[in-house]
Amino acid sequence: MCGIVGYIGKKTACPILINGLTALEYRGYDSAGIASIENKKICVMKDKGRVSNLNNIEGIDNLRGTIGIAHTRWATHGKPSKENSHPHMDNSETFAVVHNGIIENYTELRKFLSDNGYKFLSQTDTEVIPNLIHYYFTKDTSSDENKFLKSVKQATTDLKGSFAIEVLSNLYPDKMITVRKDSPLVIGKGSTGYHIASDIPALLEYTRDFYLLDDYEFAVMENDSIKFYNSDLIEHNKEIKNIEWAASAAEKNGYEDYMLKEIFEQPTAIRETIGSRLKLGEKCDFSDLDISKEYLSSINKIFIVACGTAMHAGLTGKKFLENLCNIPVEVDIASEFRYRNPIINEKTLCIFISQSGETADTIAALKLSKSKGAKTLAVSNVIGSSITREADYTIYTHAGPEIAVASTKAYTSQIVLLGILSVYFAEILESSDSKVLENLKKDILELPKKIEASLNTKNEVKNFAQKVFDEKDVFFIGRGSDYNVALEGSLKLKEISYIHSEAYASGELKHGPIALIENGITVISILTDETLVEKSISNIQEVITRGAKTFIVTNQNILNSNFDAIVKIEETNPLLSPILSVIPLQLLAYYITKEKGLDVDKPRNLAKSVTVE
Ligand code: G6P
Repeated sequence: MCGIVGYIGKKTACPILINGLTALEYRGYDSAGIASIENKKICVMKDKGRVSNLNNIEGIDNLRGTIGIAHTRWATHGKPSKENSHPHMDNSETFAVVHNGIIENYTELRKFLSDNGYKFLSQTDTEVIPNLIHYYFTKDTSSDENKFLKSVKQATTDLKGSFAIEVLSNLYPDKMITVRKDSPLVIGKGSTGYHIASDIPALLEYTRDFYLLDDYEFAVMENDSIKFYNSDLIEHNKEIKNIEWAASAAEKNGYEDYMLKEIFEQPTAIRETIGSRLKLGEKCDFSDLDISKEYLSSINKIFIVACGTAMHAGLTGKKFLENLCNIPVEVDIASEFRYRNPIINEKTLCIFISQSGETADTIAALKLSKSKGAKTLAVSNVIGSSITREADYTIYTHAGPEIAVASTKAYTSQIVLLGILSVYFAEILESSDSKVLENLKKDILELPKKIEASLNTKNEVKNFAQKVFDEKDVFFIGRGSDYNVALEGSLKLKEISYIHSEAYASGELKHGPIALIENGITVISILTDETLVEKSISNIQEVITRGAKTFIVTNQNILNSNFDAIVKIEETNPLLSPILSVIPLQLLAYYITKEKGLDVDKPRNLAKSVTVE
């Protein structure tokens, strides 16, 4: 939520900053702004609207400073407006700050600063930060060369909540300070200087060498040097990490939208995620996890906790773990889990799934589980992300950067990884027949090829999308694994097309939702479990009788002509079917949204990475 960018180096900062903001726009896009230093004066240019609006601000082309900070906003405190856009300055215009996160005690801090004569020009929580820095800076009458850093440190000590901030000062025109707590921030070492951003993909164009800041770790960049300090302002060395993602991975590569590109990248994403972990005739390889048989045998309960699409992947993960390992699994939404006092002890394994690894509720849920004595395992797509630094164990999906707000390839990669992990656990625990496991491995390895068949449904899906794109309500139904996919299909559709959609277990239709079915309502059904097909078909007939238009995704040979569209996918192990059946639903959401002429990659009100509660 909100994207921040910074640059200090040999080149003019402004174009680099705007470029970075454009790459980060999926984190928030209701206002944007930049600040640069020229002739020892901070110049701020900002406005509401998309990043591209920045180019219309008079004088922006004349900004020549080689140091700057920038921000794309997802409004929390105060509506999108010029005043509420970042960067914010203190009253004396000595310090400029961009901020991602939420300052929970900002009312208290605002009062304190108001009592000390400070005025506020915006409704944001952020504006307290530059003023607090100014307050501490002016209180310090010494001529200490670290006075700027000390003031930033004192100000951040007062902040409650989460923040990633960049600070500039006209008194130190060649210096930038950054610090974070519970909000992401990375620093890339480029060939012309240092690049700062909320996440790695935004900087792949410039570098693959990154410093990943820890909570309350300060980075001070000055000309071509960088220094790191801990929360006591003691300087230390920091390791630079090389990130393997190719620069082109964060580009559209000829596709009209990132979402379409990411849907079509799924065979590769799955292949990469399988990697060398799974081979026929061999035990799965998770040696990097270092989980002992003794520990695994002691687990009597697993929680899978996540948000949004990642939580839906967890629902399929539960099926794998329960079926193969015979351990009860509960799946929960992170924002609920963290406040419901879940029963956890040292015999509980808690698995947290997060594409970004930065989702605030998921991280808080992980910390809670740790504090209650459970071991924690993170499933993430982003190397070094916050969640991976908190967890006892981490496994990575290798889906490559996911840019579109609506998650697609991360979902299928998460399911595959949870599947392989379950096979690995089952091998250690000897909880499943080895032939069953070997067959499942074979099916996992065949997934990339079978996904191609699901992608080939695109023209049929597009045709159906053209018929239903102006619907107001859509229902998704299914049983078992198909119900989990219905939930994900429904989420995809509402996220990007703004069509109201609901997912129900088919058997629940008669307990309420069928009252809403009338002429022309669209009902989308997923039918992949042959043991439940007949029952589900009866449910579909019931909605057809009441006038519904029907779209079926199935791997079965269904001889029925009164469905409006049947999309055929490949058969696979029932545990894996969500990976194949979700794809036509991703495509359906995509084509309906295109038909409506909406922005597929940046749906209104949403952000890719939800770093605040
Ligand atoms: C947001 C995104 C979703 C994502 C969810 C969880 O809502 O728009 O696509 O599924 O956050 O994100 P995470 O990064 O934790 O998987």
